[in-house]
Amino acid sequence: MDIKFKELLTKESTLLAPHFENKKFNSLLDNALANYTISQKQESVPDILWGEERYGLLRSSFFRNLPSDSKKNVYKELTRGNLAMSWYIERSGHNYGAKMILLSESQEEKSLYSLFVAEEAIHQREFENFMTFTPDPNLYWHPLLDSLAFAIQEGEKQTCLYVIQVLLEGFGIAFYNGLKQTCLSDNLKTVYQKIINDEAKHHGSGVIQTQGMTPNKLVKEQVFEYTRLFLRSLVSADLIRKNIEKEKEMSSSEKSKFYEEIDFKKLMNQRLHKLKTMLQKVDNWDLVASLEKDKVFTFL
Ligand SMILES: [Fe+2]
Ligand SMILES: [Fe+2]
Repeated sequence: MDIKFKELLTKESTLLAPHFENKKFNSLLDNALANYTISQKQESVPDILWGEERYGLLRSSFFRNLPSDSKKNVYKELTRGNLAMSWYIERSGHNYGAKMILLSESQEEKSLYSLFVAEEAIHQREFENFMTFTPDPNLYWHPLLDSLAFAIQEGEKQTCLYVIQVLLEGFGIAFYNGLKQTCLSDNLKTVYQKIINDEAKHHGSGVIQTQGMTPNKLVKEQVFEYTRLFLRSLVSADLIRKNIEKEKEMSSSEKSKFYEEIDFKKLMNQRLHKLKTMLQKVDNWDLVASLEKDKVFTFL
């Protein structure tokens, strides 16, 4: 991949792109997006959109013993984290689509990616309609976003198809689906369902394009490396505990008890298993077997 091309795709100019302070331009964008979104800017949004239904934190004695304000703060921060993560995923979709349009070898591919990018812009706005804050990457950044940004910047076209479209968009569907099922706002639930339907097309077209593909050595190496990076960043995040510890620190024995009580290991292994199944759909070499040898699908 050309060095100049990569320079346009740094994390700073993609996921962390600055905001344009031009009122006329922005209202033009607002009007254009309003024609496509199913939601409108919400006048009031509850601080907590995901709580006990999603996290089941009352299973933890440490959490149960926190004062009620602290419990609320934990859910409030986790809510913000979920919205921020969704928002960043959509931002990354813009850059991914732009890259794929440029790397398309046919007009049909260019047309399909143009439609996908438009959908990512609509998705980003749907989430913004429920957000009362602009995510600060110092506060709301999931380590997985680094591996996503890296793959978008560095990946060969075929690598991107495997890692971004099949694996990450597939992960996105599972992540959004979990958020939809446990969301406390019916309007936001509807938004997640609509976005899941769109992401299924993005993921599906990745599956179609990778089936029967014969990747070269570089692509195989990249897919292996980026997938490993992605899976490791996913299990390293530990955001639930970190958010609880913003309220009250845990000793190391309290941490172990916490993980046990919320069945953290089982949850992580279920997530990894889902991703493994997704990769098996497009494994036309020994990708899953070599990842397994590296124990990336097992959370110990
Ligand atoms: Fe999207
Ligand atoms: Fe997408």
